[in-house]
Amino acid sequence: MRGKSVCVIGAGVAGLVSTKECLASGFEPTCYEKDSDIGGIWNYKESSSQGEPSLYASCVLNTSKAMTCFSDFPFPEEYPNYPHHSYFKKYLNMYAEHFRLRNRIQFGHKILNVSKMNDYETTGQWRVIVQNMASGSTSSLDYDFVIVCNGHYCDPFIPDIKGLDSFEGDYIYSHGYKNFKGFEGKRVLVIGLGNSAGDIASELSRHAEHVFLSTRHGTYTVSRALDNGLPSDRVIVRRLYRYLPAAIKRILLFRNFTSRINHSNYGIAPNHPFTMRDLIINDELPTRILVGSLNMKLDITKFKEKSVLFEDCSEERIDKVVFATGYEYSIPFLETSTISIEQRFPYLYKQIVPPGVEPHTLAVVGRVGTNAPVVPLLEMQARYAVRLFGGHITLPPQEQMKSSCERRKQTLEKMFGREIRFNLSVDYIDYMDDLAADVGCSPKTCWYLATNPRLWWKVLAGPVVPAQYRLEGPGKCPKACETIMEGEKCVWIPMRSRRAGEHETDGLYNPLIKTVFVLLCIASVAVAYTWA
Ligand SMILES: Cc1cc2nc3c(=O)[nH]c(=O)nc-3n(C[C@H](O)[C@H](O)[C@H](O)COP(=O)(O)OP(=O)(O)OC[C@H]3O[C@@H](n4cnc5c(N)ncnc54)[C@H](O)[C@@H]3O)c2cc1C
Ligand SMILES: NC(=O)c1ccc[n+]([C@@H]2O[C@H](COP(=O)([O-])OP(=O)(O)OC[C@H]3O[C@@H](n4cnc5c(N)ncnc54)[C@H](OP(=O)(O)O)[C@@H]3O)[C@@H](O)[C@H]2O)c1
Repeated sequence: MRGKSVCVIGAGVAGLVSTKECLASGFEPTCYEKDSDIGGIWNYKESSSQGEPSLYASCVLNTSKAMTCFSDFPFPEEYPNYPHHSYFKKYLNMYAEHFRLRNRIQFGHKILNVSKMNDYETTGQWRVIVQNMASGSTSSLDYDFVIVCNGHYCDPFIPDIKGLDSFEGDYIYSHGYKNFKGFEGKRVLVIGLGNSAGDIASELSRHAEHVFLSTRHGTYTVSRALDNGLPSDRVIVRRLYRYLPAAIKRILLFRNFTSRINHSNYGIAPNHPFTMRDLIINDELPTRILVGSLNMKLDITKFKEKSVLFEDCSEERIDKVVFATGYEYSIPFLETSTISIEQRFPYLYKQIVPPGVEPHTLAVVGRVGTNAPVVPLLEMQARYAVRLFGGHITLPPQEQMKSSCERRKQTLEKMFGREIRFNLSVDYIDYMDDLAADVGCSPKTCWYLATNPRLWWKVLAGPVVPAQYRLEGPGKCPKACETIMEGEKCVWIPMRSRRAGEHETDGLYNPLIKTVFVLLCIASVAVAYTWA
């Protein structure tokens, strides 16, 4: 496969890592990016139009840096555990620099069309129409392989709510939200309860007269820091949970989700039984409710000229509305016969390969979502695509691939009803391990038990950091073991700006005094009980 050409569409996280993996396996990738820089969603702009990814100024990652990095390229150790988006962009710049990706990217070039060549059945090649955005000129180029990395946070989903036409206030979509300016002193309604809604409502509640947050289903809010101040994904994303009986896993995760507050008392809790994917990462929302700047509301019944009516018949005067109701997506440059998408559910085998397209020379990287970091999923998808193109992965017959997609759709419907919000959703570890098995980079857990028990324990019971998938197989990294073993130490490095006192105890500093004190207490209770 050395020297075969690959067209990578988009230079966000998915496009960058796909280009890098192509180069690592000897392919000749050309990445086309319609924007003028790398990063996709992380390429922050003061204003964004529909059709391009967008971010608000205050956005901070909600997955920690050690869990969100590429498996062979850790974040600088001095970076905060949860970096602001500007740090993440800098990290992507470093990644592109380190792996010499920029000279592979054609900026300001938009892909208009991707279609099979006439002799596709024998060559598997694709004809790609590219537009130079500056001159408007188009060119037609032929490629052996195509990786689609065009993202899916560009086109806001707009719910059809009664009376919106008659509403006299302003409304925007979270996609267009940049900061609180223009909301000062207003009565604001935020609709939805995903991560965008949680962040935006919390921020606005510091500046608006009052914020209302309307949700149909509710959720749980998990703080960025859990046990002992560790980043929450380091606590939750552990392989050990996979081996526990489902009931115990539920209990442990439920405890983590609810350790901070009783979500019912705050009006946040879901109105359906606990599922492990019901969560947003948000440190502020409960506090904003506690101080009275923000109130939760039920679903909306209708908009009126100056107010909004809710399901419980309450009515609030509202000046401004933010729809944080998620996104639609499409792959406009591909025919629907190549990839079919129904209600945000893409018919893709392993969420990467369109089943009906043979030979398998086209892959999609990025149509995936999870409650854990997304970046490592995109990297694993890219590794899978490149191994597939290289002939190292054999796919099952078309019919089997199609029924696998159907089964996944049915499972999602069973878990989440018809909530299309979860149509890209996967269980992080199950999905990573499944793809890793095909790529040939699964950690050899049993082998480590015999050869390196400390590593075995880390892989089994520690956080599933991306480096776990660089211990073995193609793309194996010599530093992966060290990254895994030293992981927790690195968490504290950016926070050690002051040498703190070491007396975070209950005041009985000496363990001996403490033991005697506890024994005396037990003895006196026993004596009192005997005499009573
Ligand atoms: C607000 C927000 C916060 C997030 N926070 C986190 C987080 O904390 N941790 C985490 O792991 N994930 C997070 N995510 C998920 C995030 O989307 C992914 O981590 C990842 O950045 C997605 O990358 P992508 O390359 O698939 O898509 P994008 O970043 O959308 O990039 C797609 C690129 O393709 C280009 N493109 C599209 N069409 C064409 C075309 N026809 N021709 C040429 N170029 C094209 C676009 O210009 C864009 O640059 C967040 C998402 C959002 C919306
Ligand atoms: N800080 C961060 O890192 C950060 C910040 C923001 C976003 N993100 C990520 O970006 C992605 C997009 O997040 P998002 O919050 O924009 O979208 P999202 O996760 O799809 O959430 C959309 C929300 O809108 C609600 N909704 C949809 N249709 C509705 C309707 N008709 N009426 C009322 N409510 C409706 C959904 O509620 P139901 O459950 O009721 O359907 C859901 O709460 C996610 O991957 C997220 O993790 C990350």
